[in-house]
Amino acid sequence: MTPEVLDAGVGVDRGRLAALTAREAEAFAAARPRSRALAERARGSLLGGVPMTWMMRWAGPHPVFLAEAHGARVVDVDGLEYVDLCLGDTGAMAGHAPEPVVRAVAARAAAGITAMLPTEDAAWAGEELRRRFGLPLWQFTLSATDANRFAIRVCRALTGRPKILVFNGCYHGTVDETFATLRDDGSVGLRPGNVGPPVDPALTTKVVEFNDLDALGAALVPGDVACVLAEPALTNIGIVLPDEGFHEGLRKLTRRTGTLLVIDETHTFSAGPGGYTGAHGLKPDLLTIGKAIGGGVPVGAFGLTEEVARRALAQEDADYEDVGGVGGTLAGNALSLAAVRATLGEVLTDEAFARMTALGDRLADGVAGAIAIADVPWHVTRLGARAEYRFSPSPPRNGGESAAAGDEELERFLHLYALNRGVLITPFHNMALVSPATAEADVDRHTEVFAAALGELA
Ligand SMILES: Cc1ncc(COP(=O)(O)O)c(C=O)c1O
Repeated sequence: MTPEVLDAGVGVDRGRLAALTAREAEAFAAARPRSRALAERARGSLLGGVPMTWMMRWAGPHPVFLAEAHGARVVDVDGLEYVDLCLGDTGAMAGHAPEPVVRAVAARAAAGITAMLPTEDAAWAGEELRRRFGLPLWQFTLSATDANRFAIRVCRALTGRPKILVFNGCYHGTVDETFATLRDDGSVGLRPGNVGPPVDPALTTKVVEFNDLDALGAALVPGDVACVLAEPALTNIGIVLPDEGFHEGLRKLTRRTGTLLVIDETHTFSAGPGGYTGAHGLKPDLLTIGKAIGGGVPVGAFGLTEEVARRALAQEDADYEDVGGVGGTLAGNALSLAAVRATLGEVLTDEAFARMTALGDRLADGVAGAIAIADVPWHVTRLGARAEYRFSPSPPRNGGESAAAGDEELERFLHLYALNRGVLITPFHNMALVSPATAEADVDRHTEVFAAALGELA
């Protein structure tokens, strides 16, 4: 018997949590013999038994192997069906295998995938991103990580400044400069777990807490920061929304100190057709995005103001055409751009966002209702088509506070419980996202399962 230990901080008995998690892990394994066999086989040829080590993150004793995915549903190799609110951690925000994207990708694949030549789709995609986000000029990459890396290079080149500034608890892809954290004494340290950092991050990066305009101002005054790279709301340490006036302050301080502002919309795209930027009229100097815009096909993008673009191309010593450090052989390929056109033109449309936002609210309302009934000190935060619950009574104001409201044991149980009842949420914290293909019944199924888990726990 595990002893009873009530953890008042999260309102849950740790002993009961451990026993329930063990029960769920057993049920998970028993129901998935084919996934288990594939996991064992894959251990012989794949690092960690998976094609990308992030896939080791799922809550079960081994990953679920995918058979197929359509719309808002995923089917695994054991024939089990799931309502998918993970959606490839945003890569499949357009839903799985959306018909217009399947059609466009098939046609493009049959007509040439990559040629290092632009296509008409590229011009269409640039125009559409301009309409949605307000930045006039665009470049394409293969991932959001690359979009951020290249944006940072452009900012360094233009300002001649060595550092960037990020907010504590951020994630912007595998970009070396961003793996920095704010220590208790206010200094910059290495983000725990960082694999093989090239240099001490204090050399490249300043870190302040989100929503702390005083600290931001103090960090920018010395004039050694090329750019602030920011999600408009943090999403990778739970969701942390900006305070009223934060974005106005951020823009004023960056302008006053000659610091460029890069807004990363990769996840906050859930806030509307033009992301948080479009919904709230932000005016960044550069904007980065990836994941969802290709309907699942790898692609990223960064947008620039006329002024930034003019200055970049006027720099005679910056080689944008060859091996200057900005580029990629397959970046801007015909297939990715055909996928972007189909996704933005026919799937993640303005109308689709209106429906998705209403469903995101329904999801968050359902979670909030279950939290209230179970009377646990948790909360849920919404960001358009996305919602996330976290284990503190009120929403955190910054990354440090939000990190303190995480709980891996609880998360593992809730994720396993959901998986065993046919619901996927992202394996990183407790984020759920809806697509144009998601139905009210899908969202309600999540609420039902979440409420049942709380009923057993609380
Ligand atoms: C805000 C943000 N930016 C960039 C990235 C990097 O995306 P990718 O891994 O597709 O390069 C992520 C990934 O989670 C992200 O959350």
